[in-house]
Amino acid sequence: MLKIVNCFLVVALYAISSLPLHAQTNGEKFVDDLISKMTLEEKIGQMNQYTGFFDPTGPAPKNGNSAEQYEQIKNGMVGSMLNVKTVKDIRAIQKLAVENSRLGIPLIFGFDVIHGHKIMGPIPLGESASWDLEAIEKAASYAAKEASAVGINWTFAPMVDVSRDARWGRVMEGAGEDAFLGSKIAVARVKGFQGDDLSSPYTIAACAKHFAGYGFAEGGKDYNRAEVSMNTLYNVILPPFKAASDAGVMTFMNGFQDINGVPVTGSSFLQRDILKGEWGFEGFVVSDWGSIGEMQNHGYAKDQKTAAMYGVNAGSDMDMMAYAYINHLKDLVLSGKVDESKLDDAVKRILLVKYKLGLFDDPYLYCNEEREKMMANDQATIDGVHDMAKKSIVLLKNENKLLPLKDSYSKIALIGQLAEDKNSPLGNWRLGATDDTAISVLEAMKERYGDNLQYERGVTVFSGPENFPSELQINTEDRSGIKEAVELAKNSEIVIVVAGEHGYNSGEGRSRSNIKIPGLQQEMLKEIMAVNKNVILVVTNGRPLDLSWEDANIPTIVEAWQLGTMAGPAIADVLQGKYVPSGKLPVSFPRSVGQVPLYYNYQATGRGDVKDEVFWSHYGDIESNTPLYPFGYGLSYTTFEYNNLQVMKTDKGVKVSVNVKNTGAFDGEEVVQLYIKDHYASLIRPVQELKSFEKVMIKKGEQKVVEFVLTDKHLGFYNAQGKFIVEPGAFDVMVGGNSRDVLKDRFELD
Ligand code: NOJ
Repeated sequence: MLKIVNCFLVVALYAISSLPLHAQTNGEKFVDDLISKMTLEEKIGQMNQYTGFFDPTGPAPKNGNSAEQYEQIKNGMVGSMLNVKTVKDIRAIQKLAVENSRLGIPLIFGFDVIHGHKIMGPIPLGESASWDLEAIEKAASYAAKEASAVGINWTFAPMVDVSRDARWGRVMEGAGEDAFLGSKIAVARVKGFQGDDLSSPYTIAACAKHFAGYGFAEGGKDYNRAEVSMNTLYNVILPPFKAASDAGVMTFMNGFQDINGVPVTGSSFLQRDILKGEWGFEGFVVSDWGSIGEMQNHGYAKDQKTAAMYGVNAGSDMDMMAYAYINHLKDLVLSGKVDESKLDDAVKRILLVKYKLGLFDDPYLYCNEEREKMMANDQATIDGVHDMAKKSIVLLKNENKLLPLKDSYSKIALIGQLAEDKNSPLGNWRLGATDDTAISVLEAMKERYGDNLQYERGVTVFSGPENFPSELQINTEDRSGIKEAVELAKNSEIVIVVAGEHGYNSGEGRSRSNIKIPGLQQEMLKEIMAVNKNVILVVTNGRPLDLSWEDANIPTIVEAWQLGTMAGPAIADVLQGKYVPSGKLPVSFPRSVGQVPLYYNYQATGRGDVKDEVFWSHYGDIESNTPLYPFGYGLSYTTFEYNNLQVMKTDKGVKVSVNVKNTGAFDGEEVVQLYIKDHYASLIRPVQELKSFEKVMIKKGEQKVVEFVLTDKHLGFYNAQGKFIVEPGAFDVMVGGNSRDVLKDRFELD
């Protein structure tokens, strides 16, 4: 048994009760006592994290790095592992640590549980399109339940980076372009992962990443510098991080980017002054993979030792895979370059998280072979990801009401490689999942429509990736298959084409300079449209795409992201009308990549939005500055009418109410969105800012009154010193079903 637990138990027996350790104290005393017993090396060990590197159930490695790291685990020189993913392996590694090291301190096991573990939900950008906080929280709780069943107790999620750049591959991993929506979703996901009791074997520690500014990678190129003003930093980038911190997220991860010439991993300003200082964050900060070492490539640290010094002094508590702390911290402390109190602080934070997870009570708390086996086919999780998937779908266009599909159809064509693909819907963050395990659109539609539906693959879009993380090959030459698809389309009443990006077109390191539907898919669509105008396009993608051609030419467009294991059934539910779509875009869709970065809450220029012939802020070669589909946009099979916007000042704040009537033929859900515009302020405010929303179910023919109350927290903003201020003046209130189509009123704040 654990040596440390043994010591504690002796004391505890004389003390109060047989309650588990975590329930007896808040852990401070226990952890402080433990730190007082630790050697300098053992402290450094806690700050060191390695990725899985050997078969922990096989013989001990004999040579090289692995042998050394194996010994380090046994000697208490490792505090955490990532990328170990079975109970058997986690148990074996945990055993090495707790049974061999002097103090028997358990390891914490981290993993990228981003949108599910084996059973995948929609990519985070997709689930954000639901604007359904309860569903999002549940989705995270299912992922936690699944991951904790294989022994994992820490996820590197949620990514709360606001991003306005569709080219960036990791747009798929966040909640889109808006800080307010992003903050709400950050809280929902933290609560979902961590639950009410972190020491439950069903919940895991969450990690808000990548602190801060990663989403502003210049040019949308991954790992790039972020050029941001203080106004943007405080009002756009930081709020979701602050919300996660306030919600009690256990850990933060920094990132690869620099802000203002300082790599964020070495930024005391971000990590010590703001996060641990002003916000009072008590958890720990893990570096991103090798980011401590990368400070050398940035041209910031002259060598690995200096990088280690910068990292620890700036408040990066755990070194993920740079080997910088394990190699140099001892020297740095002994030579007086780093104060040992910095290590004590880092170690205390790390041990407290382990304590709160219940690992000192039972280091194998998350290792349960039975649960692991059962979870692989857990029906509640499958139903949960199915539910999340259908709520994530956004109906972009439904001309001629081609959707929902008529029951009378007996000749339905389904076309597109992405319709048969069982891999792409899993997205790119699916390290725990088995390839090809999603239910495809073809499988789901065949089950429902039988012989009334015929399938043709059409043009081959992609091949690979051969093995992760190799690049996906996109076909741009071989047109075979188009003929058969066109033939099928010609002889069908209705044609459903599934086209777009593969899951591996987005994600880390997968930025794109062209954001149109890749390969020859558009060419095939053109040929299909020439023989049958009744085309429904189901788009799959991990970023906003330039769908301007599709919008101009195809009557019906359904945005389906990468929806996870239950992608096929969820898409079929929407096509069939079993589920009335209710999603709204969490990002603006541009008319052209040249508009990027494009976002609804931009600042007005000195020229204003008034169109002149030439001298105004615009591009001469596109028709409009507006997006193709605005932020917050999404249709339903029914229609909603907004009227009677009332804005009233009361003691409790500014009360806003609006009537929303379902004027169509289906019961449906609508996301009622409230935006404000602060007309003038000491820092220019955006032309529009989301400040509240409510998702309401309204039965056909019925009307609901939706009410909001705006208080200082909605009306103020952060000044350039990071102080939250509220300034008097004129405010517009805008309410509608998206950021473009709104009712408007105005009030004065005294
Ligand atoms: C690098 C990514 O940037 C980060 O988000 C992820 O959590 C780590 N790798 C660990 O896989």
